[in-house]
Amino acid sequence: VLCWFYVFPGYRLPRDKDIVAEVLRQGDVWRKNQTGIDLYRDLLTKCCNPKKMFAVTKENSPIGKVLWYDGEIYHSHTVNSETYQLFIKENPLPLPLKKCAVVGNGGILRNSKCGKDIDQADFIMRCNLPPLSREYVEDVGTKTHLVTANPSIIEKRFQNLVWSRKTFVDSMKVYGSSYIYMPAFSMAPGTDPSLRAYFALTDVPSNLTMLFANPDFLLSVSKFWKAHGVHARRLSTGLFLVSLAMGLCDEVTTYGFWPFSVDLDEQPISHHYYDNILPYKWFHAMPEEFVQLWHLHKSGILRMKVGHCS
Ligand code: CDP
Repeated sequence: VLCWFYVFPGYRLPRDKDIVAEVLRQGDVWRKNQTGIDLYRDLLTKCCNPKKMFAVTKENSPIGKVLWYDGEIYHSHTVNSETYQLFIKENPLPLPLKKCAVVGNGGILRNSKCGKDIDQADFIMRCNLPPLSREYVEDVGTKTHLVTANPSIIEKRFQNLVWSRKTFVDSMKVYGSSYIYMPAFSMAPGTDPSLRAYFALTDVPSNLTMLFANPDFLLSVSKFWKAHGVHARRLSTGLFLVSLAMGLCDEVTTYGFWPFSVDLDEQPISHHYYDNILPYKWFHAMPEEFVQLWHLHKSGILRMKVGHCS
């Protein structure tokens, strides 16, 4: 039924209403497709080598290595003895990861009661330091193993850490002993805030570990999805994490990926589960990404939870 927009992704996206109809038609039917899962893991390993490359490590970025920023034209950082010491030795994730939950920030999570479901996963990934306060726990859960932090959040929410670092360090406690995954070498203005966040977390006793996203990995993942019909200036954070999860985990379930203005009952919903701040229009292509992910859902390669968890 969805063929017309698989054939020409990006040319004509279905309306929100048509997406709702399609998702309702599919209902709860989902059958795991192990061959498909293995195939995608192989494809992602070949293109992007997430096991070795997802973070900047001492292993993949020795002194003298030029890190080309993936979000800039001709901007680079040459690893020196100062930056080298900030990098983790090698991929620290406890591989292989079994059941992974990738939690997007979509408003569809509100009143979803998916918190328990999410918390049952072995490895839980979240995007952009999302709020996990008591009012959201029932819908989004409490546990986190890896959370991304966009440098712009450090600027906007924490005054670039130029003043007090306490608010930042305190607010990171909800993420327990997670990995904080920051694209420090993606856009030039993002490097300083990322390094400040690194020092804020290492200067005090903290259970959190900072990982810098490897720009080579991000670039290769972008190319992978471009070849699969996602034409965005930049992929959404969520799609980077889903790609990472598909490369590293035995099973992937996504929550909160629903970039549409209405829910499955066609009631209006907010963009995020905690606010309604919309993204720059031409920056991401979230509906296009959704279509790709939904295709993987229908093929049994990953599972998308939209709507309520029972
Ligand atoms: O950094 P970015 O703007 O990409 O993300 P965000 O708004 O913090 O949300 C995290 C991720 O959740 C996004 O990158 C999307 O992949 C996903 N999302 C979605 O699918 N639908 C929404 N309504 C909001 C977010």
